[in-house]
Amino acid sequence: MSDFQPESVVQDADILHQHEKTDMDFDREAAIKEFDETKDGVKGLVDAGVTTVPRIFLMPKEDIFNNINEDPNIRVPVIDLKDMNCDNLKRKQIVENIKEASETWGFFKIINHDIPQTVIDKMIEGVRLFNEQNKEIKREFYSRERFENKVRFVCNFDLYDSQAANWRDTLVCVMAPNPPPPQEYPEVCREILMEYSDHVKRLGETLFELLSEALGLKPSYLTDLGCTEGHVFYGQYYPPCPEPDRTLGHARHCDPDFLTILLQDHIGGLQILKDNYWVDVIPEDGALVVNNGEFLQLISNDRFKSAEHRVMAKSNGPRISLSCFFTTLFEPSERVYGPIKELLSDDNPPLYGETTVKDYLHSFKSIGTKSVSPLAALRL
Ligand code: OGA
Ligand code: NI
Repeated sequence: MSDFQPESVVQDADILHQHEKTDMDFDREAAIKEFDETKDGVKGLVDAGVTTVPRIFLMPKEDIFNNINEDPNIRVPVIDLKDMNCDNLKRKQIVENIKEASETWGFFKIINHDIPQTVIDKMIEGVRLFNEQNKEIKREFYSRERFENKVRFVCNFDLYDSQAANWRDTLVCVMAPNPPPPQEYPEVCREILMEYSDHVKRLGETLFELLSEALGLKPSYLTDLGCTEGHVFYGQYYPPCPEPDRTLGHARHCDPDFLTILLQDHIGGLQILKDNYWVDVIPEDGALVVNNGEFLQLISNDRFKSAEHRVMAKSNGPRISLSCFFTTLFEPSERVYGPIKELLSDDNPPLYGETTVKDYLHSFKSIGTKSVSPLAALRL
């Protein structure tokens, strides 16, 4: 039975029960395979006119709607980078703000970051153009091979392992180190990918300087550690969802990198977990969202938190975002990372053991699908 016909979707309000029922006639693996083989992703379903969410995407309602923050005064901090390099007092204040945001939220928005609005708009448009181009061209990029392709299109990295698929499609582009020959990037967004990459790399260097200072280290410390060596783009495309209360655009997770710089369009839906409540990250023109990854949490010995976040499905859209992950996960090095020695003392002993990006990646692969952070496994 095809899972991708609207009529095949069970209309039971209690989705949990559906999972427990393990219907004899529902072959999840086969449904996933059939979907995967279309190579058209979630957008393919929407284009085909689904009016209900196919079963492989269904999530328990209580997982989606529990613990939503209702207090409009709880807002992700906004940090203005204006005059950062010409006014010492301002820089001190910015470093202080980043320190506070990293210690309490693990997330902040930045404004006056020097990436021109035209570049930002073109980058969002580039991700849209990739996803909305001719299906045949897009299918050529479709791949589950994590390391063989530095440029690939895929729907749900963990499609075959997760309990429920997410309502989104992803274009992955490794930008550094060792980028592929430019002609491997999709033609419709090649130029802007490379232009945005230059901008965001510079911004990343600036942020790692500020974060180093916020940890009380010399400005070049985190860059010297290799934090800016690699970055990878995930162009995320969240098609409009016919039943946004039955699935998520992106299930809860922490980012397995040092730092993420996220560009989101005006649709909204991103939420971060703060003190056990989901807080909306409301889109603001020109603002970029920055979040600490698990590697920063590890090397800062828990000083700088890596917060869980997720994306709600929406009936409007598509929603488009572009995450820039600072990591060398795609060129796994043997370099060893552990809590930074200068931050440790008798009162602040190391909380984690050391790991290489390669080993971390391995543990992520084996337990990541259960939404268990590999960080927990490294805890001493
Ligand atoms: C991610 C992510 C959020 C978004 O790519 O890891 O959390 O808004 N993206 O798309
Ligand atoms: Ni993320």
